[in-house]
Amino acid sequence: MPDLKGLILSGGKGTRLRPITHTSAKQLVPVANKPVLFYGIEAMAQAGIEEVGIIIAPETGEEIRTAAGDGSQFGVRITYIVQDEPLGLAHAVLTAEAFLGQSSFVMYLGDNLLQGGIDDLVNAFVAGGPEALILLTPVSDPENYGVAELDGERVVRLVEKPPEPQTDLALVGVYMFTPAIHSAAKAIDPSARGELEITDAIQHLVDRGLRVEPHIVRGWWKDTGRLDDMLAANRLVLDTIQARLEGELIDSQVDGRVVIEAGAVLERSTVRGPAIIGSGTRLTDCYIGPYTAIGRDCTITGAEVEHSILLSGAVVRDLAGRMESSLLGRNVTIGRDQRQPRAYRFLVGDNSEIGIL
Ligand code: G1P
Repeated sequence: MPDLKGLILSGGKGTRLRPITHTSAKQLVPVANKPVLFYGIEAMAQAGIEEVGIIIAPETGEEIRTAAGDGSQFGVRITYIVQDEPLGLAHAVLTAEAFLGQSSFVMYLGDNLLQGGIDDLVNAFVAGGPEALILLTPVSDPENYGVAELDGERVVRLVEKPPEPQTDLALVGVYMFTPAIHSAAKAIDPSARGELEITDAIQHLVDRGLRVEPHIVRGWWKDTGRLDDMLAANRLVLDTIQARLEGELIDSQVDGRVVIEAGAVLERSTVRGPAIIGSGTRLTDCYIGPYTAIGRDCTITGAEVEHSILLSGAVVRDLAGRMESSLLGRNVTIGRDQRQPRAYRFLVGDNSEIGIL
């Protein structure tokens, strides 16, 4: 794709995914054992984009740099751009102005997942030549998103999180722009939440009579900002995986679409897919149910786990009841405690949530 760049927004504080995001960037939380962010980078590579800028925050930027590197693992060149404060999506565009130059670009929110990638979007943008192309999808709770009003093939109004939405068409976190967006981002004022909203910048293009076109998403889309969305994204991606058994099975059984990565060991355990078990993980006397993604180097013994995401190094042992719809951060341990006096013992970080039977 000639002179089309990519911009991935991977800053922000991830407040809705605490406590995971106290120690890690929300864009690196894994979906089917792969960081959310990587799906966006892969979508850009797939669409033929070679230059990708990633906006990072000072707090989590280093971790993102370490994970995505120079981009060669994806077949793109990555430039990291630090946004000192999370002052909005349009502010992020301005922060990236030097990187973007006079190129048109696709902007992708790093915690979003879009089935089918962005090829169709890029093709529609190149063919139609509008100043902006925005992705839209009908949702049941439009008040939580940017909302669009259309007149045929034109976008006529955009409102950020309106209390009384006029349509159910939410702005998906993927946008295409010509360089005209830079002057629009400079012309707008911060919103009530103190951010330069991309929605307002796009509205500015509309108000100047420039062409802003809608593109309705056909497949699924997930903003993985909250636990339920994260679990939903995990389900949707696991539904598409190909079975692959590279680990070691001892008196164990796998049913359905299951990935057991090399170096994982299952002993007297059953895994019912779709599920993925990361390398170095050891399952002993376990049942792992559908829609579970277990990261690297986890240890699960005498427990049942279903519809959950476990990050690397998590330990679960000897649970009396099944664990489900859970997200365990790195190196979290949950287990039966034999010490006296008999009691619950917790060492839990801020904003954690625990449900017991
Ligand atoms: C942002 C945008 C909003 C868009 C949403 C998609 O919201 O401001 O217009 O619908 O992403 O995920 P935020 O996640 O910043 O609340």
